Amino acid sequence: MPRQKGQLRLGAFFNPTGHHVASWRHPNAQADAGINFAHYTEIARTAERGKFDMIFLADNVGVREAHMDALSRSAQYIANFEPFTLLSAIAAMTSRIGLVCTATTSYNEPFHVARKFASLDHISGGRAGWNLVTSGQSVEAYNFGRDAHYGHAERYDRAREFAEVVVALWDSWDDDAFMRDKASGQMFDPAKMHVLNHVGKHFKVKGPLNIPRPPQGHPVIVQAGTSDDGMDVAARFAEVIFSANLTIESCQAYFQEVKSRAAEKFGRNPDHLKVMPGLSCYVGRTETEAEEKYDYQNSLMHPIVAREILSTILGGIDLSPYDFDGPLPENLPMTQGSQSHFKYVTELAKSKNLTMRQIAQVVAGARGKLVVKGTPKQIADMMEQWYVEEAADGFNVMPPTLPGGLDDFVELVIPELQRRGLFRTEYTGRTLREHLGLPRPPNRYERRTTEAAE
Ligand SMILES: Cc1cc2nc3c(=O)[nH]c(=O)nc-3n(C[C@H](O)[C@H](O)[C@H](O)COP(=O)(O)O)c2cc1C
Repeated sequence: MPRQKGQLRLGAFFNPTGHHVASWRHPNAQADAGINFAHYTEIARTAERGKFDMIFLADNVGVREAHMDALSRSAQYIANFEPFTLLSAIAAMTSRIGLVCTATTSYNEPFHVARKFASLDHISGGRAGWNLVTSGQSVEAYNFGRDAHYGHAERYDRAREFAEVVVALWDSWDDDAFMRDKASGQMFDPAKMHVLNHVGKHFKVKGPLNIPRPPQGHPVIVQAGTSDDGMDVAARFAEVIFSANLTIESCQAYFQEVKSRAAEKFGRNPDHLKVMPGLSCYVGRTETEAEEKYDYQNSLMHPIVAREILSTILGGIDLSPYDFDGPLPENLPMTQGSQSHFKYVTELAKSKNLTMRQIAQVVAGARGKLVVKGTPKQIADMMEQWYVEEAADGFNVMPPTLPGGLDDFVELVIPELQRRGLFRTEYTGRTLREHLGLPRPPNRYERRTTEAAE
């Protein structure tokens, strides 16, 4: 039974020039977008004009390792602002849109992360969100005193304790702890300050945090894990999940699994966990116009970059011995990379009889996330179907180019969604939690005091 139509949640995921690997070569791209604040102000304001719930900035703490011929032709995560600094500046240039960025649990301390998001939440009036990642790239390890990345299980073990500490630190102070009473000379009430004294396997943190409780209580927690451990962390802590499913069937299975885990294993309300798959759209007023935008963008991709992106999606398989205009070789070995991407790419290649170059064009748009092209109606149909058939609560929109891809979405797709009653026409809330329909969590210490009094 399909569910009733409701309000979609929409994030605008910003890569500086857009998500297509060759977006920086588009004639309208700011080639230096990663360090161009005027550009970020413009796209954040466009997203706010479109009434998006939030903008999202991903992050890596290092330059990825790749063949220099391919790397030197790419702009992705190589020449970017540090995201907290950037979001703090964007906070001042916007008033309603949520501000979400990545912070890794592998190469940070929980105190730093709790403090920075609390700060951003105060600066923005309750619009901050934390995308919790454990880091997939081993190169990050080399910048933080290590010779190798933590193993998968260890980094998720660390992530669980890390998140517990961060959330607990956000409760360091009761909401009304600071009376700042000039007449009596009392700054805060000592009974409303809570010292954490956490001693665990990975962290020892005394607390309290040196900033009052964030306006949202807890900044919104976002997660994007696809592995079993990743889904467990999401089911326990996340309020938004950036999934990376490519078909409605696989996203429905993911939606079911993560929400039932949240309810059954962690006693959470499954509606307080919003599943938002990545979606990259080429929008045209006609199908032909959308096709033309797609083909033009792909024509800007250098063959070396195309080969590298396909190789990466397949988990690092060396494709150089093969003819790129020929079919994908049969019986490729499965690697340690994403199994769902591997399966999708190999099945797609077979079913549509694609050459390697053609497959690379399919995956280049959004590094393995879903790419669609069409008219506003076709795109809205797809989004509506994923919502009512319980594959998604909304989407993490990944414009292939910026600013053009976002302008197209805001000018063409959003009005179509609004016309169908699937998206807000005006913000009704002030905080990111209010936009997303998430409750403000009570302070654990206040809760305890109330419970004891009852
Ligand atoms: C939309 C989206 C955004 C992501 N952003 C980041 C990021 O900013 N930094 C990062 O290291 N990993 C990022 N990831 C990767 C995930 O954190 C995670 O490593 C990946 O989904 C594999 O999950 P697993 O480790 O549970 O297998 C992102 C993934 C998705 C789907």
